[in-house]
Amino acid sequence: MAGRIPQSFINDLLARLDIVDVIDARITLKKAGKNYQALCPFHNEKTPSFSVSPDKQFYHCFGCGVSGTALTFLMEHDRLEFVEAVETLARLVGVEVPREASGRPQPDHTDLFELLARAERLYRTLLRDCAEAVDYLKGRGVAGVVARDFGIGFAPDEWHTVSEAFAGTAAEADLLKAGLLTKNDKGNVYDRFRGRIMFPIRDTRGRVIGFGGRVMAQDAGPKYLNGPETPVFHKGRELYGLFEARKALRRIDQLLMVEGYMDVVALAQAGIANAVASLGTAATTEHFHKLYRYADAVICCFDGDAAGRQAAWRALENALPTLTEGRQLSFMFLPDGEDPDSLVRKEGKEPFLQRVQKASPAIEYLFARLAENLDLRQLDGQAKLASLALPFIERVPEGILKQLMSNRLELLTGFTAETAARPRGSPRTSSSQTAGQTTASAQLSALSRRLLHYILHQPEVAREVPESLAEAVEALAAEDAFAEIVNYIVKNPGVGRSEILGRYAGEKLHSVLVELASRPTGLAGEAMAQEFCEGLAQHVDLAARRGRQRLLADMKENPSQQKLREFWSLKQDQAARRSGGSQPSGSKGNP
Ligand code: UTP
Ligand code: MN
Repeated sequence: MAGRIPQSFINDLLARLDIVDVIDARITLKKAGKNYQALCPFHNEKTPSFSVSPDKQFYHCFGCGVSGTALTFLMEHDRLEFVEAVETLARLVGVEVPREASGRPQPDHTDLFELLARAERLYRTLLRDCAEAVDYLKGRGVAGVVARDFGIGFAPDEWHTVSEAFAGTAAEADLLKAGLLTKNDKGNVYDRFRGRIMFPIRDTRGRVIGFGGRVMAQDAGPKYLNGPETPVFHKGRELYGLFEARKALRRIDQLLMVEGYMDVVALAQAGIANAVASLGTAATTEHFHKLYRYADAVICCFDGDAAGRQAAWRALENALPTLTEGRQLSFMFLPDGEDPDSLVRKEGKEPFLQRVQKASPAIEYLFARLAENLDLRQLDGQAKLASLALPFIERVPEGILKQLMSNRLELLTGFTAETAARPRGSPRTSSSQTAGQTTASAQLSALSRRLLHYILHQPEVAREVPESLAEAVEALAAEDAFAEIVNYIVKNPGVGRSEILGRYAGEKLHSVLVELASRPTGLAGEAMAQEFCEGLAQHVDLAARRGRQRLLADMKENPSQQKLREFWSLKQDQAARRSGGSQPSGSKGNP
């Protein structure tokens, strides 16, 4: 892929489009006063609570709370990736999407994709030429069409099939980088996949990014060999079959998460096209984020044995942070000794789908497992369950699901998430907010949320901050999400609400921003500007104070002249800002 899409282009695009046209082309809008109304496409309802504002150029649903711009609408409604959504909008306006030729060029993996695509074609041809491999697939019930849809191929049991086929047209180094060749300790280079049925793994745009290979002969090494991590293939992120599912189904209501390549293929063969598999790893949080981009319901399929229960537990833990409003997660356990492949071939499509329908909600599973071996008629059993369940409930984003979990806990134990005391002296932070789990709103203090609220209603407020304050904000921007936004507006006078929202589309902060943008502030323009400036000065002071405290703590550990100098220069900066006149009225004296 080429470089980043310039932000200015996205801003222009949003400014040239009318969100009403974009949405009206997909759902029926009715004029209602200044705005347009419709039945919300994101949840089930009988009376319309979905509203589109031509003035503000965004949509909001008063029923389920979703909101955003034309760009986010396409991402959510058409289930498009950010880049795809931008491209779709650009086509509407009739312009090309430019890419930034940035100073640090984005690595361009065109060659790698090209090699992998050629390898796919090679393996497919070789499958046609090998009766034994074709028979193997037939023996497993895979018809020619399905093999073709998935691009299944064959790597003969030879050392140099790939190197010979690519001789003179590709560098050995590139074939190694693509994971097609491998090198042993002695420095000999040879084909990675030998004597294997080949499953190409695609990204959501359909490009081959790697392969998995299954042995045909018994005792010929590991049953499945997955390609290595490469610049284009990251196992913890990719899902086998997702591209094929999207291609086969116009609309995906639920995705079925299974374990193996052959499970995905066999289900497709049986007419169940919505199955995907992780690639020899447990389902990660990143996997769930991806799954929920394409469907609101995810059903994970596990073996009925101890290993399956363990896998389910890990999946549950990884899924919790992604379970926002309207998303469902269920688990189904298969009879002993069966996997989806064997079961669907034995039972057929309908009985298998009935099992899917009967999958139990993950939350039921959570409570059932936690309550195992506890006596809930006894007070100590109830207290134990509450203390076990709380850390899980805390990891679920705010919303109905979290409320349901809390209600369930109360029903079972009499404790609610609010009343169940967390261990004394343990602050909310650290354990519940380790890196990667921090929610977008946790990155923002209450103060910065309030100030963002003003910005989103009246971006001008950020343009009127005194220069000394603007400098302090810029210095903070690298480590402080809020300061980064303010700095962006200061540096780009003229940006409006939809550009600000558009800039964060696809990022964690986005949902916080749209939520703030759709709530009234209850303040008049003048008062907002005043409050904003004072609040911003407070924010900068707080950040400086935290910086000094960190330095002081450091100095106690490890006193040095350098640290002392930094400390005094921080204090002087603050004094300069105070005399610069941006001092909030009634603020405290020196700490
Ligand atoms: P299984 O061992 O359950 O195999 O591995 P399977 O899917 O039933 O395969 P068939 O039916 O015998 O062909 C499930 C998944 O675990 C990963 C693969 O992704 C596989 O699809 N795996 C398994 C490996 O990565 N390496 C292995 O050696 C085995
Ligand atoms: Mn199997």
